[in-house]
Amino acid sequence: MTSPQLTKLDSAHFDSKAREWDENPVFVERGLKIAEAIRKAVPVHRHMNVLDYGCGTGLLSFPLKDELGTILLADSSDGMLAVVAEKIAAQRVSNMTPMKLDLMAEAPPAQRFDLIYTSMTLHHVPDTDAILRIFHDLLNPGGTLCIADLDKEDGSFHGPEVDVHHGFDRADLSRRAGWAGFNDMHFQTVFNITKEYPGGTRDYPVFLMTARRVEA
Ligand SMILES: C[S@@+](CC[C@H](N)C(=O)[O-])C[C@H]1O[C@@H](n2cnc3c(N)ncnc32)[C@H](O)[C@@H]1O
Repeated sequence: MTSPQLTKLDSAHFDSKAREWDENPVFVERGLKIAEAIRKAVPVHRHMNVLDYGCGTGLLSFPLKDELGTILLADSSDGMLAVVAEKIAAQRVSNMTPMKLDLMAEAPPAQRFDLIYTSMTLHHVPDTDAILRIFHDLLNPGGTLCIADLDKEDGSFHGPEVDVHHGFDRADLSRRAGWAGFNDMHFQTVFNITKEYPGGTRDYPVFLMTARRVEA
């Protein structure tokens, strides 16, 4: 018996979604709600160097841009980065820089960050332990990691044919962050995505995990 073919949501998939991304009010509201939670959980300031990993069209970084120092917007999708670059130019933003980057396939940048945040991207990265270790190494001592992603779900969010993590168990992710060298892990629910199905609706909560790289 052959097992069903799983589909990866690769950069071509996100390229094809980029132009319409900001037309989805759920994505826009999700970015605003996660930004609000980061603002409350992290003492953000204008001297912070920040990495937004899997930035998409920048829906998380744009609401925070006036409260931060430099923001590197990293994504593996050229389509998403093209939209980000246009938004930066249209709004004459001086502290945001887009960069094509897949930390699973390429060497990390030499720069170090005070804050790394990533929204709805971790479930697309196959090796969670590896990306957590890379995030840890990219942070300055005392720096903060913020991960917003789905709580553990049954695979119905993307559909059973899609090859992604089916959300994350909070205790398991906290343990893995500890293995990568982080401490002081905290979780909160920051958003809820409701999807409609023939039999009714279904809720998919989104958590924000904050974790700190230990001081040197
Ligand atoms: C669900 S979207 C979220 C976009 C944005 N953070 C938001 O909240 O609207 C996931 C993003 O992660 C990017 N992505 C997926 N795998 C990646 C990887 N290995 N490295 C960098 N970006 C990746 C995709 O191109 C896409 O822009």
